[in-house]
Amino acid sequence: MKKTPDKSKTAQQKSSNTTSQQAHVDWFRSSAPYIHAHRGRTFVILFGGEAVEHEGFAHLIHDIALLNSLGVKLVLVHGARPQIERQLSTLGIQSDFVAGSRITTAKALPGVEQAVGQTRMRIEAQLSMGLHNTPMAGAALKVICGNFVTAQPYGVHNGVDYCQTGNVRNVNAAAIEEQLQQNALVLISPIGYSPTGEIFNLRAEDVATEVAMALKADKLIFIMESNGVLDSDGKLLQQLNLPQAQQWQQSHHGDDETQLHLNNAAQACRGGVKRAHLISRNIDGALLLELYTRDGVGTLVTADNYEDLRHASIDDIGGIMELIEPLEQQGVLVKRSRELLELDINKFTVIERDGMIIACAALFTYPEEAVAELACLAVHPDYQQQGRGDDLLQHIEWQSRKQHIEKLFTLTTQTMHWFIERGFAETDFDTLPVDRQQMYNFQRKSKILSKAL
Ligand SMILES: CC(C)(COP(=O)(O)OP(=O)(O)OC[C@H]1O[C@@H](n2cnc3c(N)ncnc32)[C@H](O)[C@@H]1OP(=O)(O)O)[C@@H](O)C(=O)NCCC(=O)NCCS
Repeated sequence: MKKTPDKSKTAQQKSSNTTSQQAHVDWFRSSAPYIHAHRGRTFVILFGGEAVEHEGFAHLIHDIALLNSLGVKLVLVHGARPQIERQLSTLGIQSDFVAGSRITTAKALPGVEQAVGQTRMRIEAQLSMGLHNTPMAGAALKVICGNFVTAQPYGVHNGVDYCQTGNVRNVNAAAIEEQLQQNALVLISPIGYSPTGEIFNLRAEDVATEVAMALKADKLIFIMESNGVLDSDGKLLQQLNLPQAQQWQQSHHGDDETQLHLNNAAQACRGGVKRAHLISRNIDGALLLELYTRDGVGTLVTADNYEDLRHASIDDIGGIMELIEPLEQQGVLVKRSRELLELDINKFTVIERDGMIIACAALFTYPEEAVAELACLAVHPDYQQQGRGDDLLQHIEWQSRKQHIEKLFTLTTQTMHWFIERGFAETDFDTLPVDRQQMYNFQRKSKILSKAL
């Protein structure tokens, strides 16, 4: 017998269908501003080898394909730690870690190559899927891998030779960009080649960071095992600027993975990447939630473009010491004690960015002779090559002219050409003010350069 439909049930169903349709429409509309904002932008996404093995990996691939079809230019960097571990143990090769880095011996390298190669192929295969009735239907992703990363040996540290473990030496950003322009998705493995033709095992997080900085990417996204950066009560910190990130790192609450990723995120932001995100791979759809909803699900690290060139004060001594100490150790700058810095602090100009001293220079005047010395010029390595050295020099010249100084001189052991290209010329010891002659350190054999103002 034919059943007569229960009218009230059908009406109920209809109304719940309409509610869910409306929710869908509302959700889609609320994503629109993010879809517009992200179209044409470059995102570098890092995920570890653990993610590749996880049952949820197919979902991550679907989400990546969706980002691609929404016009985001994507560079994927993958890790392969568990795969390498397994391959080496199958081959009966023991591999040691020192200070968090694997020592890749010549014997272990083929195992590393096999594991990384297989992992990459597995990812490529997933990205190539296109079955009907799956989110990959019609995606037709073009995936490009290549020799985009040049490596160099990590070398010997504290007597330990890291062998075929390497560092990123250079990233061919132009070649990656060319592929992105062609709508290809670039997939990069944690392996690099040196100009001598050697193969090096790299840390995937470093590869992602260097690639993002070389591309000046809009976002660097770490998909990690933990849930993002948590405060001491275990609550997610949704946003951190660079000083806050530094503070968090100093207070050391958190697992090693978060520390390392946060370190890389901060480095990327200092190096010109606008935003870095730390999100969990254990949340299904974390990538979409982070990028297409207002609050996201992870931690956002931002580099607020706040910079200030100003007179130094006594509070800046710690920051200046942090900046110049490595250069003093390398013999590039003369050693200055804290006491001496305290005495001379009013001679210093600094550039402060997000609460951190990233550059400094000092001006010592000899009014009787109408000359002045430019000393202790330094720019933090993460911020070099962007004109800050020039800015400081111009500021020091302006300060000097204001004080009727006619000639600026400087003493340098390794930076002659930088000054010569900016109008300085080598000059004799006798041209130094007498007081300064008495302080000249003959062992350093510094060159003396001067410039008429
Ligand atoms: C020298 C220094 C202050 C320049 O700062 P910066 O902000 O990178 O400089 P700018 O962006 O204004 O200039 C960058 C240019 O200087 C060049 N440069 C940097 N260091 C140089 C050196 N030692 N010799 C010659 N040129 C150098 C760069 O190659 C770049 O040139 P390019 O544009 O042709 O590629 C910075 O490299 C530094 O702190 N060095 C270590 C400390 C030091 O040597 N101080 C001087 C001691 S007296």
